[in-house]
Amino acid sequence: MRVPRRFAAAAGLLALALAGCGADTGTAVDASDASPITMGFSQVGAESEWRVANTRSVQEAAAAAGIELVFSDAQQDQDRQIEAIRSFIAKGVDVIAFSPVVETGWDPVLREARRAGIPVILTDRAIRTADPGLYRTFLGSDFLEEGNKAGTWLDDRHIRAEEPVSIVEIQGTVGSAPAIERQLAFAEAISSNPQLKIVASTSGDFTRAGGRAVMEDFLADLPDIDVLYAHNDDMGLGAIEAIEAAGKVPGRDIEIISVDGVREGLQALIDGKINYIVECNPLIGEQLMELAVKIVAGEQVLSRVVTKETVFERSAALAALPDRRY
Ligand code: AHR
Repeated sequence: MRVPRRFAAAAGLLALALAGCGADTGTAVDASDASPITMGFSQVGAESEWRVANTRSVQEAAAAAGIELVFSDAQQDQDRQIEAIRSFIAKGVDVIAFSPVVETGWDPVLREARRAGIPVILTDRAIRTADPGLYRTFLGSDFLEEGNKAGTWLDDRHIRAEEPVSIVEIQGTVGSAPAIERQLAFAEAISSNPQLKIVASTSGDFTRAGGRAVMEDFLADLPDIDVLYAHNDDMGLGAIEAIEAAGKVPGRDIEIISVDGVREGLQALIDGKINYIVECNPLIGEQLMELAVKIVAGEQVLSRVVTKETVFERSAALAALPDRRY
């Protein structure tokens, strides 16, 4: 097993101390490194309420665990994330964690981290690579399961539909794991129902403004939209603004399904403007710090840790809202 960098350094100091002082002097040298663990964390950005809650969760959990966090916001830009990871390597952090904005293009920089002996944790989003040894674990949601839950709910609701049901989809960031997997699994879940048809699908980049702009275009181009599937609440809420501005009633004229379960999303569900929300949980900071501590100590961890999540219809939203932290 590879000795973690910080313990290797401590062992080196111990050897020096023993050589210099003599083993019989009684000088105690503690081989455990008392300095705090340093984690370099590259965040996607601040594109959504989910993301803001995720950042807060990571920062609070690091402080509670006594982990020194070097935080970097990539503003949804892969090059900025690669730059941040390189700066973490140059700084010699103990562990790197990051939420990859897109799935591909990470191998070179992760090989650099591996060469430097710095373990990497993926949080929230996965990467696509032929070399799973480039990271130690992936902590986050099952986006395929989320897309499947959204599609299954819609399929059940329209199981006896005699007329075509026109669905528009507002996707997340192009090339990101949640956009790819939520789209794929949703399409698969509705595929056996010939009446359910996705008539348009465009990215709103996981932002509220993006959701509004895409929905405005859909409403201008497509006369009869029955259902909107938005890959997150923020885009769903932006789309609601566009639907209301077009004189339609969200949740009634157009059924809306979204993903996340942020406070404003749950409130819209309670108000009847959203019909169904699939939860995606951003509060993974504590689990991330626990994994980091184990990995830095040289312990084995599971290569995949899936976040627990639920779904919301109106009654569940009513029950959950008072305690919702984000
Ligand atoms: O990767 C998680 C997704 O990213 C959330 O669903 C979305 O709101 C965020 O921006």
